[in-house]
Amino acid sequence: MRKVHWQSNLLKPPAGLPVLGLLAATLCLASPAASVAQGDAGNAAPVTPVQAPAASTPAAPQSELHPSMGDLMTLLVQPRHIKLGLAGSAGNWNYAAYEVGELRGAFRRVGQTMPIYNKQDFPALIAAMATEPLEAVRTAIERHDRAGFQSAYASLTAACNTCHASLHHAAVVIKAPGSSPYADQEFRSATTSPTAHPALPPH
Ligand code: HEC
Repeated sequence: MRKVHWQSNLLKPPAGLPVLGLLAATLCLASPAASVAQGDAGNAAPVTPVQAPAASTPAAPQSELHPSMGDLMTLLVQPRHIKLGLAGSAGNWNYAAYEVGELRGAFRRVGQTMPIYNKQDFPALIAAMATEPLEAVRTAIERHDRAGFQSAYASLTAACNTCHASLHHAAVVIKAPGSSPYADQEFRSATTSPTAHPALPPH
């Protein structure tokens, strides 16, 4: 399998330093005691917290995470699929329009991060299986068509499963989300929620 370079701005530990080691080092550096120890102890100047090397040293070597395809799907694709489904079911078209773009972008980034999977051109597989249903979902969103959304979203979900089955992961079965796992996010639109503006006259 081709080596994948996962470059994250959040995680740039110095070469050879494990991520947990970096966390420990960061915590240590961020503590006031460490700041004083590194500053001029006899000087009354205010102590500024010492920046973690990750944020302050642009030349620091990048960490290399090596996400598997399962990691990428779980991190990038699955949440967007869930959120898109919740928003579309609620008729929250503005957010759904945003989220279908996010899902499309997530697929693109998966392909960029792992261009070859199982000796196959993964971006080409994504294009063959997901482009059309994504486009149908987008069209339904533009038309504010709830029934159209439901059927396009079902086709998109079927495409997820077709790819899983064709790449020997038939056990990974995706379905439309029944309820939101994101307790802190509103997926209903203020204008479509029946209780959002009970006092407003219909326009
Ligand atoms: C072009 C092919 C392809 C498409 C399209 C695709 N997947 Fe995947 N997905 C895979 C492969 C391959 C794996 C297994 C990766 C592995 O473990 O090696 C996978 C694994 C997953 C997993 C990880 C399963 C787990 O429980 O850890 C999730 C979740 C997932 N996919 C969600 C989705 C969703 C949601 C969609 C549709 C919106 C989707 N996938 C579309 C190829 C695809």
